[in-house]
Amino acid sequence: MKLLLALIGALGLIGAVVAAAFFFGGFYSVAGTAYEPEILKSVLIRVRTASIARHAKDPVPANIEEPAMVQAGAKLFLAQGCTTCHGGPGVGWAKFSEGLHPDPPDLKEVVNERSPAELFWVVKNGINMTGMPSFEVAGVKDQELWQIVAFLKKLPDVSDTDFKAWTAGVTKP
Ligand code: HEC
Repeated sequence: MKLLLALIGALGLIGAVVAAAFFFGGFYSVAGTAYEPEILKSVLIRVRTASIARHAKDPVPANIEEPAMVQAGAKLFLAQGCTTCHGGPGVGWAKFSEGLHPDPPDLKEVVNERSPAELFWVVKNGINMTGMPSFEVAGVKDQELWQIVAFLKKLPDVSDTDFKAWTAGVTKP
């Protein structure tokens, strides 16, 4: 029994030394293009989903469906640079966003699976170690964040013409 425990301890120690040499010795590649096993990808997505679901607790404003909210959100969506990475109705994403890893999703394909509180939390706080910025840190107020959320929830039904009309006069950063 003692021998077994000693063996387990020794193996643990060897494992730690090998891992330290691998990571601190520079053998691990931090390249955005480095191969990522499917299992790691799916674990990271599960961690992200669970974390957002647990943290997203802010109460949703009653006027979230009002057209004025949605249209104000459209303006912010363009003015704050969301289209640069995610694209939008009739607006393409910047080519460089294809070099981000993980790559920014086309938001109209995900918003139906997210609650308003979850969208609010993500846009407010960002997602660590991805290109998704915290817009609270970028100076966007909670009230404006809710306008962005109001727009996001309607995004799958917003036509290119509507978006163009709602964002007339707004310039991209
Ligand atoms: C610099 C690029 C960049 C900008 C600018 C950006 N995002 Fe993102 N965003 C990302 C990336 C990358 C992800 C994916 C993160 C991941 O896979 O975990 C993401 C994820 C998201 C998600 C979560 C999607 C999901 O699957 O649940 C939402 C919502 C979102 N962004 C909204 C916005 C909004 C709204 C803005 C503007 C206020 C914005 N983003 C600006 C890069 C960006």
